[in-house]
Amino acid sequence: MIVNFCLKICYESSTMRRKQLLLLKVGIVAWLLVVYILFTYQPSTTSPSLSQKSHNINQQLDKLEDELSKQSKFYSSLLEKLRGLQRQQHEDQHISNEEDDFRLIKDGPVLPILLIACNREAAVRRSIDLLLKYRPDQERFPIIVSQDCGHKPTRETIESYGDQLSLIQQPDLSDIEVPLKERKFKGYFLIARHYKWALTQIFQKFNYEAVIIVEDDLDVAPDFYEYFSATYPILRSDPTLWCVSAWNDNGKAGLVDVRNGSSILYRTDFFPGLGWMMTRELWDELGPKWPRSYWDDWVRAPEQRANRACIRPEVSRTRTFGKKGVSNGLFYEKHLKQIHLNEVFVPFTKLNLSYLHQEQYDPTFEKEVQNSQVVSLTEVKSGRLTQGVKYKIVYHTKDVFKRTAKALGLMDDFKAGVPRTGYKGVISFFYGNNRIFLAPGNNWQGYNPSWS
Ligand code: UD1
Ligand code: MN
Repeated sequence: MIVNFCLKICYESSTMRRKQLLLLKVGIVAWLLVVYILFTYQPSTTSPSLSQKSHNINQQLDKLEDELSKQSKFYSSLLEKLRGLQRQQHEDQHISNEEDDFRLIKDGPVLPILLIACNREAAVRRSIDLLLKYRPDQERFPIIVSQDCGHKPTRETIESYGDQLSLIQQPDLSDIEVPLKERKFKGYFLIARHYKWALTQIFQKFNYEAVIIVEDDLDVAPDFYEYFSATYPILRSDPTLWCVSAWNDNGKAGLVDVRNGSSILYRTDFFPGLGWMMTRELWDELGPKWPRSYWDDWVRAPEQRANRACIRPEVSRTRTFGKKGVSNGLFYEKHLKQIHLNEVFVPFTKLNLSYLHQEQYDPTFEKEVQNSQVVSLTEVKSGRLTQGVKYKIVYHTKDVFKRTAKALGLMDDFKAGVPRTGYKGVISFFYGNNRIFLAPGNNWQGYNPSWS
């Protein structure tokens, strides 16, 4: 193959040189001819005067000079063209090598991005722009925008991206039935209806094996696609996992290791949502019993979660800018807004992530928490901890958990008894340069669904 290729190149460049020579020869002959004609040509005038003769010669010399300079220009431009051709050939060769490398990076499962949209045109534009900016390959990561709400300007905004993405539209725009008491939560019913329809399209109509779901008010990090590519095989091979999320609920800049922690990933019992991946198998399980409202809290209930965990990053790969939304910015100012979006590209697909498998992760994690040094909240807040040492604050009651979380700026709520980012009851965070665990006592019996 290489030899063949060289032969081809060598052959081509030698024919090129022969052509060059031929052209040069033709040029020289033409030039000699012109010189000969100019010098032997006698105009048929009757006895011209001497001054007229010298005038004629001068004219002819001018002509000759003109001709010579034209020819010299012609040959240098010819030479330039030939050199250009050669350069082009070299570059083409280089590019095709680069394409081969890129195809290797492109190898992997097709992971479609489902973007849930409604009626926020500026927001959807911002979300799409970032998704397109960082997308390494259109075929591996097709973007499907599903629009609810029938809002025309939003539809037109999405359509303006042409074939960079696909638009699907939720067809049922009828008023939705909502129990009287829940009138003000109607938005959650509409969202749940949209999710069910859109996910059914992804798996039944488009027949994908997995999906990454985002909403129209999320920014994504530069390594968003890389993160999901690398964690997909882990999600597939560990039945105790049921999702990968790009979101860290406690991902404020002051609570994560922004400087050195970008590549750290965790398991969590709390379903984070907000940029997350699931497999077709999970949809086959959840789809038929999908709820009419509050889909995310329903997913978090023990009947659905069935003790399964999600992967989540130390530094968030999504950030929400949706201050005005259905939940009316409940946590927006206090928490959501402050989540730090990862800025460095971590080549996750080149890292060994097998530590995330339960049988490897759990013993290491338990030992780490076990061996960490007990401290009080006051000591942590004092900022006088020894650098590099791992600490833990122990909680036994819901109230102590909440009070401690609040004092440190951590989320203090529970869903089905599970605190945000919790794994085996433990919250891992970073505080003033130390890794700290907010951990239950040794006799922990599992989550208590009555904690809320
Ligand atoms: C919150 C959650 C969101 C979850 C939703 C449902 C956060 C920050 N957000 O929504 O992840 O999906 O609760 O429990 O925790 N939408 C429709 N149809 C509508 C209205 C909205 O499809 O009629 C879409 C929006 O385009 C958006 C999504 O639903 O993609 C969420 O809507 P949003 O208004 O952002 O509500 P949140 O309060 O953020
Ligand atoms: Mn939102």
